[in-house]
Amino acid sequence: MGSMGKVLGVGLVVGCAVAMCVVAGTMVGKRVKSRRRWRKVVKILEEFEEGCATPVEKLRQVVDAMAVEMHAGLASEGGSKLKMLLTFVQNLPNGSERGVYYGLDLGGTNFRVLRVQLGGQRSAILEPGVERQPIPEHLMTSTSEVAKFELFDFIAASLQKFVEKEGNGSVALEGKLRELGFTFSFPVKQTSVSSGILIKWTKGFSIHDTVGKDVSECLNQALERRGLDMRVAVLINDTVGTLALGHYHDEDTVAAVIIGTGTNACYLERSDDIIKCQGLLTTSGAMVVNMEWGNFWSSHLPRTSYDIELDSESPNPNDQGFEKMISGMYLGDIVRRVILKMSQESDVFGLSFSKLSTPFILRSPLIAAMHEDDSPDLREVARILGEILEIGDVPLKVRKLVVKVCDVVTRRAARLAAAGIVGILKKMGRDGSGGIASGEVRGGSHSKMRRTVVAIEGALYTSYTLFREYLNDAIADILGEDISPHVVLKVMEDGSGMGAAVLAAAYSSSGQDTL
Ligand code: BGC
Repeated sequence: MGSMGKVLGVGLVVGCAVAMCVVAGTMVGKRVKSRRRWRKVVKILEEFEEGCATPVEKLRQVVDAMAVEMHAGLASEGGSKLKMLLTFVQNLPNGSERGVYYGLDLGGTNFRVLRVQLGGQRSAILEPGVERQPIPEHLMTSTSEVAKFELFDFIAASLQKFVEKEGNGSVALEGKLRELGFTFSFPVKQTSVSSGILIKWTKGFSIHDTVGKDVSECLNQALERRGLDMRVAVLINDTVGTLALGHYHDEDTVAAVIIGTGTNACYLERSDDIIKCQGLLTTSGAMVVNMEWGNFWSSHLPRTSYDIELDSESPNPNDQGFEKMISGMYLGDIVRRVILKMSQESDVFGLSFSKLSTPFILRSPLIAAMHEDDSPDLREVARILGEILEIGDVPLKVRKLVVKVCDVVTRRAARLAAAGIVGILKKMGRDGSGGIASGEVRGGSHSKMRRTVVAIEGALYTSYTLFREYLNDAIADILGEDISPHVVLKVMEDGSGMGAAVLAAAYSSSGQDTL
């Protein structure tokens, strides 16, 4: 090889080395960048996790705040963000109810019609016939002048179909009106056990010209327009239905909680403690109070920037703050907001268009499915990210990140709900904090804590195992091992609708043993 060839050879080698260095440099640069972006994402997660922390000391502060707000809400009208609404339900079913009654449950994503036949002596509820239907979207948010009529006519039509299907043989009513328990799961100012005025809509419902109207009257009129021989015997909140069914089966049931699309609780209060209605005469000395705890607020609640944004962009800003951290309608949207932020700060979710900016696209069953995905490669997470959010090819470590976000959101929600429940027990003197006198029953020389049952309904608790476990564990953590065995959380399936029918029996015009 001549000197020219050598030079060329050396030049080539040098050229290749330079090129390789450039490639390597670019790769290193890319890796450094991608590591930096990953760190950013991890930082977002860490900050979020920190913001959502619910150590037991914090939960105890929430417990105390809940009890304090309950007192304030009972002391005066508007005394607290907790409305503490009177229900006029003074006696809970005791199992002696008899007859055929109907329940209508409106307030979540579905609405249900059912019939129960009660045989007395706390018999099993015979022949429950249930029919579920989704509420058409346009009826939930209608702004038209006739919206109110549309919704109630739709319900009345479904009731009519339900009754027609029974035929004549199945129910002998001897010419009497059919009596209906109407569960209407929104804040209502009751004017009697069978009537009440809608205070506001929640859970994304918003129907023109209905706030301030008597909802029983609206339904009774729609029933009349259809010539249906049915009338509203009781108008109740879903929590009250759940408490009623719980009490029907187990007399130690004193409170009820719903954690579904929305969240709320009710409990049996001593009339003397309902200061805002002094002189309230009750035959039993007690009344069920619908707390409307979805609107509870306390500076002790761990709130993040994502919660603040969710609230301000919601149709009801500054409202239902507790509900927005706990209930099924919102959990998925908090997760979505955190992932969206991650995708804006990095490319871990790819660069192409996704549906991450679509509000409420991640519903809570999807969150549960991702959170509880136990396949080694998180196949379900990949499927949901791909099919629902249109984010493909997500590496395993990013899928794990998504699971972690679901975990943080769900854990906080479950633990806050647990603190709320203990807050009620505290107000009732059944959390053991009052020492020996608190919630105690004397039995000979031994004193023991009274058994307290809280009826619970709603898909987050009944169908989301990790949520349920987090909630149960938090109650045990807050109450401690001496007290928590005396507190029983009992699932009341279909409690809100079934309870309405049972309460209709208890308050039936034909007279029952409970009244
Ligand atoms: C409503 C309550 C209801 C709860 C659970 C809330 O949004 O305000 O009345 O009990 O949802 O359905």
